[in-house]
Amino acid sequence: MSVDAYKIDGVKVINHPLIQHKLTIMRKKDTPSVVFRALIKEISLLLGYEVTRHLPTELIDIETPVTRTSAPKLSGRKLCIFSILRAGEGLAQGLHDLIPSARVGHIGLYRDHDSLEAIEYYFKAPNHLSERFCLVVDPMLATGNSAIAALTQIKSRGAKNIVFLCLLAAPEGLSNLRNAHPDVEIYTASVDEKLNEHGYIVPGLGDAGDRIFGTK
Ligand code: URA
Repeated sequence: MSVDAYKIDGVKVINHPLIQHKLTIMRKKDTPSVVFRALIKEISLLLGYEVTRHLPTELIDIETPVTRTSAPKLSGRKLCIFSILRAGEGLAQGLHDLIPSARVGHIGLYRDHDSLEAIEYYFKAPNHLSERFCLVVDPMLATGNSAIAALTQIKSRGAKNIVFLCLLAAPEGLSNLRNAHPDVEIYTASVDEKLNEHGYIVPGLGDAGDRIFGTK
C-alpha cells in the first residue's frame, strides 16, 4: 500500500525520505542487529521530532551574552515515554536521548494461552500521569491487542493526554486501536499491507524484539 494513499482519521504517517530509507535497510533480513539497533534509534529521533511538534511552550526571561530577552521552554509537567516491553525499548531509548528530561514508564504484557487476554506482568510509571503528555511506544502495531491493553492500563492509572507511536502498522491494528481508543492519535512511519496467519506484519521486518536484541 502506498503510504501517501493511506488516510484514516487520527493516524499520521510520517513518510519522510530519510525515515523511509532507514526503514528499508531495517526490513532487509540480512541487516545485523547492531545496524538494526542504530537505525531504530536514528528513526526514533526523527519520529520524535514530529510527535512532539505540538508540545506547549512558555516564555521565560533569560540573559544571553548580548542582552536580556524572553525565549520559549517546554512548559508543564515532564512528559512520559511509555515503553511496551520488550520491543518498545528500541524506540524509547532514542526518544529519551532526544528528550532527556522525560520520565520513562514501562509496561509488560503477556498473552494468556487459554483466554487470549493480555495480562499485565509489569507496570512502573512516574506519578501525576494525568498531568503528563504520554508517548506510548511499540515498534510494531500488528493486531493492536497489546497496544489496546497497554493503553487501557495506562489510562486506568490516570493518563489522559496520550499518543501512540510505532514504526510499522498493519491496517487491522490501526482500525482496532482507533476503535478501542479513539482519543489516542497514532503516529507511524509506514502502513504495511496486512497481517499473515502468524500475526506478522507483511512485508514487515520480522520480530522486532528479536532483531533489536539478537535473540533469534
Ligand atoms: N510483532 C513483531 O515483532 N513483528 C510483527 O510482524 C508483528 C508483531
